[in-house]
Parts: sequence; structure tokens; C-alpha cells
Amino acid sequence: MHFTFQNSELLPGLNCIDGRWVAAHDERLFPVSDPATGEVFAQVPDSGAADARAALQAAHAAFKTWRKVPAKQRAQIIKRWNDLIVAQIEDLGRLISSEQGKPLAEGKGEVLYAASYVEWFAEEATRADGQIIPAPVPGRRMFALREPVGVIAAVTPWNFPAAMIARKIAPALAAGCTVVCKPAEDTPLTSLALVKLAEQAGVPPGVLNIVTASRERAGEVVDVWLDDARVRKITFTGSTPVGKHLARRSADTLKKLSLELGGNAPFIVFDDADIDAAVDGLMSAKFRNGGQTCVCPNRIYVQDAVHDEFVQKLAARVGALVVGPATDPASQIGPMINARAVDKIERHVQDAVKRGARVVVGGKRLSPEGKAGAYYYAPTVLTHVDAAMQCSCEETFGPIAPVTRFSSEADVIAAANATPFGLAAYFYSRDVRRIWRLADELESGIVGINEGAVAAEAAPFGGVKDSGYGREGSTHGLQEYMHIKYLCQGQLD
Ligand code: SIN
Repeated sequence: MHFTFQNSELLPGLNCIDGRWVAAHDERLFPVSDPATGEVFAQVPDSGAADARAALQAAHAAFKTWRKVPAKQRAQIIKRWNDLIVAQIEDLGRLISSEQGKPLAEGKGEVLYAASYVEWFAEEATRADGQIIPAPVPGRRMFALREPVGVIAAVTPWNFPAAMIARKIAPALAAGCTVVCKPAEDTPLTSLALVKLAEQAGVPPGVLNIVTASRERAGEVVDVWLDDARVRKITFTGSTPVGKHLARRSADTLKKLSLELGGNAPFIVFDDADIDAAVDGLMSAKFRNGGQTCVCPNRIYVQDAVHDEFVQKLAARVGALVVGPATDPASQIGPMINARAVDKIERHVQDAVKRGARVVVGGKRLSPEGKAGAYYYAPTVLTHVDAAMQCSCEETFGPIAPVTRFSSEADVIAAANATPFGLAAYFYSRDVRRIWRLADELESGIVGINEGAVAAEAAPFGGVKDSGYGREGSTHGLQEYMHIKYLCQGQLD
């Protein structure tokens, strides 16, 4: 059972290329289903190379004029986009929950989260100023101007189908770039709805183009954009192997890249921490979107003296979480996105238990294996977890909290950094010197200090090491879509 929508215009079910809503060239379609039930409730274009080329052609042509539109005018259009998104919170929230599975309150929360980036970049558009550089010799004036990089290819993930589109496309439009976008195959509908609203806000034809494609044909679409020198930047959120593939494939045309890739976030609780605050922080960071976020804690380290108290308080909270479909207002944890996701969670828990971990709460699949839909896994706390277990080495992307006991600060810093990833890290402590030591030592793009909810439109979001490079949100998020042109004028004396 999925939701009904008030505004059917938000379900175009077609690609948008050059301002026209069109089927795939060969009219192929693929199904979109509700992960809570497996029910197919929409069909969208299964696009291929011809559609990708048409979208790119449109974006390339539109760049010539969009880059010249005064920043203030671009800002007004983007601000209208924000207003329309906020006005459609009910339908967009339902749409996100229907195709992605998160509880409705979180679906609506994501709409506002997405809008916050759109509003932020509407404002930033007018602040993309340059620099006057003091000349080292007489008779010369020197300037650094910022210019839009050109056509952007945005490849977006399923876990935040509105927010990730917003924080890639809004800065691109604000900078004066044009866009071709391929949303994740699990969640194409929210992206199409956002493009519809952008059109209604006044984004001109060709400036924002979107083509949907199934898992099987996604590579065909993206390869067209990777190989074409007219695409000047790729912005991608997803797995590290795919991110590395994109980096390799775009080397020949030397595209700019923003890669927001996998994480393996440590969450450290020291014995001087406020334990209740640490439990609260872990609940919000770990169980948001059922644990399907790149920044969610994946390895929880708790110091000896507070380990048992922390685990007992955490287990009480986790055991009380309500698992169910987004249509049920009581649900706090929805289904996982698909069968592969729930299989991976099960594999990680079984591996941990086989190697000596103990299940304190949860630890089981809540839906029969092999059944389409109802991809539920019980929120779980594990203890006696060690570094060799799969759940410590890989991102689980599910509602699993694996706890490891530690003794010394030096050991836990070494353990936290002993991963190729470096997206987010969290720690709880009330010792001001320790806080700054950890802030310096953790190899991570984002550090939450006595705070589990770190993301915000005004903050730079992104990682180091195998978690990628580039920043989204904040003033840095706009610069990712611009390059610097240096002007040197002589003969002025
Ligand atoms: C992500 O999981 O990639 C994004 C999470 C966030 O924006 O907080």
C-alpha cells in the first residue's frame, strides 16, 4: 500500500530534456517499487546513450545563455524553486517515503533539508565575487574572476533522493552551470518531481536535464557523459569503487570532480562523557534513515569504565524502536532499500557472531528471505566486536550498532583511523584538551564533538582518503562549480 498524491503534476514519469518531458528514445521503461511491500507503483524511462547525448546537447547549448543571466536573476529563480519545494512538502515527503522507505516524518524532514540547500545556494549565487590583486609592478591591474565551469553531470544516490539532488544542482545553477542528471534507479520519482518544480520556478529549457535509467543501463548513460569533453564536472555520491571508476574514466577529459563516497565512521565515547547525551547522539546519528547514511556511525568504541552503562542504555533505546512501513505514523525504522541491502546486513551480523560478537538486542531479519519487498531488519546492538569483523571493515548501511570496548585514548585514535575511509567521525568527552587532541588527530572530513547531527546547509560536507574529495553545502559548495580566471591588464601608466 503506497501513498496517494495531491498534485499529479509531480509524477511526470518522463525524462526532461531541453524543457520537454519525453520518453526514452527506444521507449523502454523500468519499474519503481515500494521497498515496504515490493509493489510496483510507477514506470519511468529506461534511458540509454541516445537520451544521454540529447540531454548533454541541450545542456551544452543552454550554457551559453544561462552563464550570462545576472546572478541576482538566477538567485530569484532558485529561491522560487525553494519556495515550491517547501509548499509541496506533503507530496514530496510521501514520494520520498514511497520509493525510498523512510518513515513519513523523515521523508518530510528530508524535503526541508533539501530546501535548506536550495535556499542557501540561491543566496550564495549573488556572492560569487572575485578579487583585485595588488600588482607587483607599476602600470598593471590584476584580477581573479570566478566563472561557472560549464556542463555538470550529477549522478545521485537513493538514500536521500531529494537532498542529494538539491545540494548538487542548486549550487550548479547558482554558479551559472547547466546540468545533466541521472538519479539512482531505486528512487527516480523524487528527482523528476524536483526537476518539475525547478521548471515551474522558471529554470529555462535545457538548463536542467534529467534522464532515468535502470541499474543495467545506467552505465551506458554515464559513459556518454564521462567520455564527452563538453561535460566539465562530475558530481557523484555513492560507493568508493564507483567513485574511483568515475575518476579514472574522466581523466582523459580532465573533468573537475566532487566525489562523496563511502564512510566507516567511528563513534567514540570516553569515560568523561555525558553518557545520556552520547546515547542520544548515537541514536540520531546511527538510526536516521534506518542507518542508511554515509555519515552514520559504523564502529562504536566505548571506554572501559562506562562501557556497560552505555550498552545497557543504548540497548533499551534500540529495543524500543518501532519498525514498520512509512504509511504507519508510528514507524521509526522503515524497510531497507532492497534485497541486496538486507542480505549485506544479515551477512555482517552473522560474520560478527561467528567471530565472537554477542547480540544484545535485535540480530535478525524481520522479513522472509527471497520475498520481494518488506526488507526489514531488526535494530541491533552487538558487543565484543573486533577490528577483523566485516561490520568493522565495511560500511554496513543498516540499523546495526557494533560496540567495541577500549582502554586508552591512543589506542582508540589508532583504531578509529585504521580504515581507508574518512568521511565522518564522532566523539563524546568533556575534557577540553582531549577534545582538541581528537579534533586534530582524527582523519576525517567531518567531526562531530558531543554532537550526532552534523549536517547542515551552511557546513562543508565531504571526506578525505577513500571517502572522496570536494565539499557540498557552505560557501565551499559553490566554489566546486566555479573556476578562477586571472585577468592581467598592462600599459596603464
Ligand atoms: C549521505 O548519506 O550521503 C548524506 C547524509 C547527510 O546529508 O547527512
